[in-house]
Amino acid sequence: MTEQKLQQLLQDMTLEEKVNQMLQLAGGFFTGDMMAMGPMAEKGFTQENVAQAGSVLGALGAEKLKKIQQDFMEKHPHKIPLLFMLDVINGLKTIYPIPLGQGATFEPELAERCAQMAAKESAVSGLHVTFSPMVDLVRDARWGRVMESTGEDPYLNSLFAGAMVKGYQGEDLQEPYRIAACVKHFAGYGAPTAGRDYNTVELSRHTLKEFYLPAYKAGIDAGAALVMTSFNTIDGVPATGNKWLMRKVLREEMGFDGVLISDWAAIEEIIYHGYCADRKEAAVRAAQAGVDIDMMTGIYSEHLCKLVREGEVPEALVDEAVYRILELKNKLGLFENPCKDADEEKEKAVILCKEHRALAREAARKSFVLLKNEEVLPLQKGRKTAFIGPYVDNRNMIGSWSIVGETKDVTTLKEAVLERPEGEHALFAAGCPVLGGDLKLEGFSESMEEQYSDEECAAMLEEAVKKAAEADMVVLALGEHRLQSGEATSNANIQIPQVQMELLERVCAVNDRVAVVLFSGRPLDIRAISARAQAVLQVWLPGTEGARAILDVLSGDYAPSGKLPMSFPYCVGQVPVHYNEYSTGRPHVEGKDKDRFRSKYLDIPNEPLYPFGYGLSYTRFAISPAEIDKETMTGAESLHVSVKVKNVGDAAGTETVQLYLHDIAASVVRPVKELKGFRKVTLAPGEEETVTFEIREEMLRFLTENDRWESEAGEFEAFVGADSSTVNCVKFRLDAPKDGGLG
Ligand code: GLC
Repeated sequence: MTEQKLQQLLQDMTLEEKVNQMLQLAGGFFTGDMMAMGPMAEKGFTQENVAQAGSVLGALGAEKLKKIQQDFMEKHPHKIPLLFMLDVINGLKTIYPIPLGQGATFEPELAERCAQMAAKESAVSGLHVTFSPMVDLVRDARWGRVMESTGEDPYLNSLFAGAMVKGYQGEDLQEPYRIAACVKHFAGYGAPTAGRDYNTVELSRHTLKEFYLPAYKAGIDAGAALVMTSFNTIDGVPATGNKWLMRKVLREEMGFDGVLISDWAAIEEIIYHGYCADRKEAAVRAAQAGVDIDMMTGIYSEHLCKLVREGEVPEALVDEAVYRILELKNKLGLFENPCKDADEEKEKAVILCKEHRALAREAARKSFVLLKNEEVLPLQKGRKTAFIGPYVDNRNMIGSWSIVGETKDVTTLKEAVLERPEGEHALFAAGCPVLGGDLKLEGFSESMEEQYSDEECAAMLEEAVKKAAEADMVVLALGEHRLQSGEATSNANIQIPQVQMELLERVCAVNDRVAVVLFSGRPLDIRAISARAQAVLQVWLPGTEGARAILDVLSGDYAPSGKLPMSFPYCVGQVPVHYNEYSTGRPHVEGKDKDRFRSKYLDIPNEPLYPFGYGLSYTRFAISPAEIDKETMTGAESLHVSVKVKNVGDAAGTETVQLYLHDIAASVVRPVKELKGFRKVTLAPGEEETVTFEIREEMLRFLTENDRWESEAGEFEAFVGADSSTVNCVKFRLDAPKDGGLG
């Protein structure tokens, strides 16, 4: 439809029809099982609201959505199609690693391919929009939603944000198998006080803009069609009613002109925040902030018409919101093709096809991070290995946001072993349940795993210990329950369940060759695991093909290459911990432990157990001292920092060489290190490669005291190494920088 026709359509709509376009209803209202959502009247919705709604959340399936769309448009006074939206976070039916695992690949291109695959499965199933990517920067492992993020670094998160948006949307939303992306949660949701979900966020505007906003901007610059508001406050004002955040920062400074959708019931929640006295005021505040779609509260549909007619809300605010919604439908081509790619036959052919499973398996392999290996991995062929633990015969490894993915499509570790030659000599034992009797996950709709009596638990444990004693080595598959990470799953304790720690102790007491395969949606306190086991492989929640991918790596067919996108804390008391911290006026330096008055703890080190960017492989790499081609540059020039990387082990492997910069003195303090580049190099034993990073003025820009992104003259350090703890450093100077532009 042309812009002129779209404008005409807007003018032809009544105020009620326009306001109903701003309403998003759950799929249950269209599929007849609206009782699932509670009686419509209870929610304050009318038949007219349903008949004229703008979008639907949570309905799925080509046949079902085609029927809903056709019935809906027949009755709609202006034949305006519905938008179908859903949380497709790490795959629709073919589930690939959770986003924190994708971050560990340090391969945004791979995440783009995965997002494209998810878009294809979603589009043939009738969907138009996914509420992804979640690009909240995270530093606090107590917060369960770290699993949805790609980690603690603005640069890495920005690369993944852009890649995922491109994977979902391509260059043109009308292309086949493309869906609209929604960058979320704007803004700063990843910094809840004490790691408690939905809690208050206390960020200075400087910190918000310097660390948290870049990834949202990267997603928007990549063309994200939607942004979702966050549940939290910023500067004491709930994001969903925050005019400064949404109109000044998001629309004006970041240039976002797409659709702004509230999070679930977030418009109503600005009442509970204590920001609005009632639903009427909430409607005013959200409309003034420029929230275009009200997800599942009805506040707009109840109050906006009256507020406009009484002159409290200009109709222009409604018009701008509705026009953006109509524009999105037009970008998707829905006026001409309301069902877009919905196709029952293609649904059957595409979903869980072997190409998609292969991609999910590749992504899983590359997401694994080898944290420790004292010569026990890869598994030695022909040796008797016992596969023990609650994750050995368990399909539940697809993450808590895999709402359409099904465990029936997941291969277990045991099945993956039995498919391979290793299966011939393998032993298997669960050893214990995932959760012991001391842990109750309350309020989850899905049934928890079966419960065992004390006697059954004792028997499971003894059987496992016996098999561990018999075997040449043990693969111990441990970890969090899939529902212990994700939304509303904050934990003050970030260790694996106690019942599994008992299994670890008993197994390690009878076998000194134990490799732990660790499933989790967050960094955990794994001091005890790391101390007792001879190897630790972090596999996150790896998805539909996760088990086969684990065997690919354990067997040595593929060497592990993942790097941590988020620090593994020494213990929960150290949280939030992140590599790109400020120096402080009393930095703690190695060897100065006797200096009492330094920024340090009495009882634990400052350093995390495993730092950002860390990960081993099955070989060893030597990285030469960094060299620089000149020591001074102007804003118009660049310089180059190089290292030689050599595979000094006896197996092929991939190293991710990382570049960190440090601005030694500036108008606002700068992080001690900032990731500014990385390169994955795959080398055969004995092979050597030179890796060179170009350093340009724009890489030195930061948010200065003038609230502008610009660089400043001065001394810098460039670090090049295998993780953020590298001390391999060269110095250089920037003279006469260029003006960097707006902050
Ligand atoms: C949830 C989440 C958000 C999700 C939305 C729709 O509460 O915060 O990430 O997209 O509701 O399911």
